[in-house]
Amino acid sequence: MTEYPPISEQLDDVDAARVEGRRKMDWAAQHMPIMAAVREEFEADQPLAGERIAMAMHVEAKTAILVETLADGGAEVAVTGCNPLSTHDDVSAALDAHDSITSYAKRGVNDEEYYEAIHAVIAHEPTITVDDGMDLVAMVHEEYPELIDGIVGGAEETTTGVHRLRAMDADGALDYPVFAVNDTPMKRLFDNVHGTGESSLASIAMTTNLSWAGKNVVVAGFGYCGKGVARKAAGQNANVIVTEVEPRRALEAHMEGYDVMPMAEAAEVGDVFLTTTGNRDVVVREHFEKMKDGVLLANAGHFDIEIDLDALSDLAVETYEARDGVDAYVLEDGRRLNVVAEGRLVNLAAPVSLGHPVEVMDQSFGIQAVCVRELLENADAYGPGVHDVPDDLDREIAEIKLAAEGVEFDALTDVQREYMGSWDHGT
Ligand code: NAI
Repeated sequence: MTEYPPISEQLDDVDAARVEGRRKMDWAAQHMPIMAAVREEFEADQPLAGERIAMAMHVEAKTAILVETLADGGAEVAVTGCNPLSTHDDVSAALDAHDSITSYAKRGVNDEEYYEAIHAVIAHEPTITVDDGMDLVAMVHEEYPELIDGIVGGAEETTTGVHRLRAMDADGALDYPVFAVNDTPMKRLFDNVHGTGESSLASIAMTTNLSWAGKNVVVAGFGYCGKGVARKAAGQNANVIVTEVEPRRALEAHMEGYDVMPMAEAAEVGDVFLTTTGNRDVVVREHFEKMKDGVLLANAGHFDIEIDLDALSDLAVETYEARDGVDAYVLEDGRRLNVVAEGRLVNLAAPVSLGHPVEVMDQSFGIQAVCVRELLENADAYGPGVHDVPDDLDREIAEIKLAAEGVEFDALTDVQREYMGSWDHGT
């Protein structure tokens, strides 16, 4: 075991933090009908009894409901953050009060502490890993390969994590099965699109107290997240400009009615720049040099490498904190470029950020929970590598949600099912 202490040993007034954390969790739970259904089943059936689950996720109220659900399903859970700025300490403290949960997540940790907390989680010798960004899988493989034989499998929440896992799998370096939770429809079509769209724009608006109306909003990347951001920004009367590197996505953005242009051109006209690529060096020195005074720069991609802050620091003659969560970089000619939330994923890392709406995370975490159950129920079906979430699990979560929303929908008749599955009914 490492010496890194759980959150309860790091806070001055842990009791007050636990009360506030529990209050946030209770609110979230009230709006998570999928997790309520899964929790009821898990409490009754104890499908995770005897398992040890290691988690590295954004530790805030919605995630906490997933963590508790896994613990109430019989598992011992150790959890830490997957970003130094996205933890809510009060929620982390409330989780740590649970007999079967140890939470190491703390907001504002430095790099060393961040990784120490991941070591501490892995010291619990997990049988299952649940990641958002693949930090746990990477560290287990690099530094604790002796644990791999005891690991049944894992689940990965986000696009960047799934990209890393697929690269690892292609190299033959992934030694246990991991579900690509991100890629399943009930996650990606809602969390990435609506969740990132709504919460990124809300976080920027709340942090800056500025309007979207009439602004030129440059959205870098027209993937799932970018589409959500673009659509919601347009819905608030912004002029949306899209930058892309993938021709079909660029064409899609064009046909949706957005202006599409290279970043080098967008840099000259944008008022707000929001990166959603999962790539690096998307907004760089040559772009900063062309930007207007007062622009906002924010990132909604997983890592804080989309906006080249080192280059911006080099260019700046002065920096100052313009508001809570906004750093102004003053260039030689007096132009101010304002970076929101240190270029970290803005919907979770700005001081006022709350992450995705609760309803959206109910879906994503419902999938996470049933994937963990599936790893245990059907362990033999999954060899080492990245696996798609089985379609019946995705449908199960959709049906629970529709029932909770009171939405009824049609079912195929036998004749229709037969027709759709046949090849010999021509004209
Ligand atoms: P995606 O793969 O659907 O979309 C990314 C898009 O960016 C692609 O169309 C790609 O062609 C484009 N792109 C790549 N490099 C580019 C460049 N240099 N300039 C312009 N476009 C470029 O991925 P998705 O699902 O939209 O996720 C994007 C990122 O957001 C990932 O890092 C993911 O982990 C993260 N994410 C963040 C969330 C949040 O809460 N902020 C929620 C879900 C995902």
